[in-house]
Amino acid sequence: MRTQVAIIGAGPCGLVLGAMLAKAGIDALVIERKSAAYVLGRIRAGVLEQGSVSILEQLGVQARLNAEGLPHGGFAINFAHRSLRIDLESLTDGKKVTVYGQTEVTHDLMDARAAAGLSTLYEAEDVALHDFATATPSITCTHNGQPLRIDCDFIAGCDGFHGISRASVPKTALQEFERVYPFGWLGVLADVPPCDPELIYASHERGFALCSMRSMTRSRYYIQCAIDEDLSSWSDTRFFDELRRRLDPEAAARVVTGPAIEKSVAPLRSYVAEPLRFGSLFLAGDAAHIVPPTGAKGLNLAMGDAFYLAEALREHYGERSSAGIDHYSARALERIWKAERFSWWMTSLLHKFDQHTAFETRMQAAEFSFLEQSRAARMALAENYVGLPL
Ligand code: APR
Ligand code: PHB
Repeated sequence: MRTQVAIIGAGPCGLVLGAMLAKAGIDALVIERKSAAYVLGRIRAGVLEQGSVSILEQLGVQARLNAEGLPHGGFAINFAHRSLRIDLESLTDGKKVTVYGQTEVTHDLMDARAAAGLSTLYEAEDVALHDFATATPSITCTHNGQPLRIDCDFIAGCDGFHGISRASVPKTALQEFERVYPFGWLGVLADVPPCDPELIYASHERGFALCSMRSMTRSRYYIQCAIDEDLSSWSDTRFFDELRRRLDPEAAARVVTGPAIEKSVAPLRSYVAEPLRFGSLFLAGDAAHIVPPTGAKGLNLAMGDAFYLAEALREHYGERSSAGIDHYSARALERIWKAERFSWWMTSLLHKFDQHTAFETRMQAAEFSFLEQSRAARMALAENYVGLPL
């Protein structure tokens, strides 16, 4: 087979890139290790920046997002029995975020891809990258039991943190920056109304908690837990009891409990690989970087990378200029590092760190108190939360 751009991974990053390239008349093939049903069964992020919404609008996949997405003009931070509302709209000249699950974004992009007759190879096994240091790279895999070779001009590695793309780059060509946090998040999805119309980020002496949602009838809750937490020891009752202990009493009283339809533990990590280009191979999304989920940036960064990479490839094919692809790495990293900073800051402010001394605990309290008192500090938080410009 031959295509112009071979995209590895059918997560939001690969699918946005595929849609943007199709719009620009560039031929692309998406190659995914899992089945479509498996990809859609994963419960992931849920907050879209305005820039991400506008990418989906440009791609014409906004119908369900507009109908079902929940615009949020603010959220709350609970800290040591005090509550502070971050009024995103007034702090950012009217910007909002939209609560809409990554699963739904992926669903909409998959449907649009199928409707446009664009091909995706699902359940591609043993995907391998070849010759990406040259201008004639290729990919091999096994599909439907048959060996397959795909020749292309470029490979886009959009295959997530554990994908094959970054792993194919020689270690010596890659600089890695990493922080692994000494805790995880235990998440529950349940078909119960959310305890509040807005998100609540809660810092508590027992650990962090987050009240989020997917709709007005489906809640997503998280509590900070041990990195090796044993899921089987967390009954739904134990989870909701612990969640309520960490919220302010009013919010806790409004929590409606119900059977978990998903329950999982996620580690928290900050990670960036540099650079994002190796000859004909580009890395984008979780393949290139990870943020802890506290700032709600992972999905938005993945879509931002796809946007930058699509623009760069459009310049290459349309205007016969290599400026875009030459600058992709630096341009994307500029935005990635700011999202890394914000996600690290939110994580550091709101979690309980066992190794913290009394000094660091006082620093967290002073930081929160400053947020309460300073509109400038709240503006900086809000500016980052709604998303820095693309
Ligand atoms: N070959 C083909 N596909 C692969 C391979 C491989 N060797 N390895 C992984 N994949 C696929 C995965 O099955 C997955 O569907 O690549 C896809 C990567 O998708 P995501 O993990 O969703 O990554 P990305 O599209 O960058 O989106 C980032 O996901 O984890 C969240 O918080 C993160 O919201 C952010 C988003
Ligand atoms: C979620 O709804 O899954 C969610 C929301 C906000 C975050 C992280 C996760 O910061």
